[in-house]
Amino acid sequence: MVQRPGENTRAARLPVPDAPVGRPVRLPVHRSTTYAFETSQEYAEVLDGIRPGYSYARIDNPTTEAFAHAVAALEGDRLDHAVRGQAFASGMAAISTTLLALTRAGAHVVAARSIYGNTYSLLDGLLRRFGVTTDFVDITDLAAIRAALRPETALVFTETLSNPTMTVSDLPALAGLAREAGVLLVVDSTFASPAVCRPLEHGADVVLHSATKYLGGHSDATGGVVVARDELIGAIRSARVDLGPCLAADEAFLLHRGLETLPLRVARQCATATEFAAAVARHPAVERVDHPGLPEHPGHALAGRLFDAGRFGAVVTVTPRGGRDAGMALADRVRVATIAASLGGTHTLAGHVGSTTHRQMTDEALRAAGIGPAAVRFSIGVEDPADLIADVLGALDTLDGRP
Ligand SMILES: Cc1ncc(COP(=O)(O)O)c(C=O)c1O
Repeated sequence: MVQRPGENTRAARLPVPDAPVGRPVRLPVHRSTTYAFETSQEYAEVLDGIRPGYSYARIDNPTTEAFAHAVAALEGDRLDHAVRGQAFASGMAAISTTLLALTRAGAHVVAARSIYGNTYSLLDGLLRRFGVTTDFVDITDLAAIRAALRPETALVFTETLSNPTMTVSDLPALAGLAREAGVLLVVDSTFASPAVCRPLEHGADVVLHSATKYLGGHSDATGGVVVARDELIGAIRSARVDLGPCLAADEAFLLHRGLETLPLRVARQCATATEFAAAVARHPAVERVDHPGLPEHPGHALAGRLFDAGRFGAVVTVTPRGGRDAGMALADRVRVATIAASLGGTHTLAGHVGSTTHRQMTDEALRAAGIGPAAVRFSIGVEDPADLIADVLGALDTLDGRP
């Protein structure tokens, strides 16, 4: 006689339907960390990649894969070769895994001097301990980049738009230098997003993002993503599987949903940013405004060539006259913008650069990096431009007459 299973066995083995019936309009969230097989042979073949399927969530997950696939389409649809994406738990997970996958002990990297702080410390600290050395150069100085390239150089690392001066990287020129030297060009395009610029179209080998910013777009999900051609993404995927920074399915769902409105949001944010920058630049309390939409920005013409029409990114750095106090007062006195870290979301955020993102730097070091001690970075959101502009002009009025 077959023994009837006990209540705990029955509870633990409640039926789970196989594949969903029908075609859901929204991306399903697959939370299962593990997948069942009929036979050990089938299991082994999925692990070996010779049979389609999923085995374990750190390796692959249908929801995170759908997000990576969607970003690969946005970055690579207009290319004449196929590219694929890999999703990560954060932007730094994407960057660290990519750098580990594409270098080895003894390798050399040429990186932009003005890159994101944690990318800088990763290259200058952790990776140096593992024998990967980096030269940091002014990424607008092509002669300096050429001079920095060595036989051991594995890659050039830059950002499409850099924080907080919004320096524009000359991607076709960098790709040309990298190709001549037989090295890879890796581009962090977080500040641009594929709604502004697609670096692979300009010759980059790898594009990556902190998806926490524009891709997700609502400041409610942390993630990262890398897109590259097959042989590179294969190496990056293996490193991801070994290191383990996989994106959670719930986060992938939110990031994927964010992508649906990426062009809508980013077009609006970029247009507002340029209007905001132009209005602020005319205020007598302002020393300088960094935004490539302004004709006087050093990257304006280049951005016009590389970026989609009328889109110059949505970050504006405003430097009022006076020192750190003036900058902190400006950030404190705006009301529509919120003082907070990060960027790329629907809310406008403001941060005094010298006391937050670049707080390790002295006034002299900030000036040497082309950043005024009073600089305030605004990440422009989707609010009505007139409200944002009236708010910042009002805050600037209160600074008038400061030393
Ligand atoms: C340009 C850039 N790259 C990478 C990152 C890191 O992304 P995450 O915070 O998602 O790890 C950031 C975060 O601010 C960033 O601004």
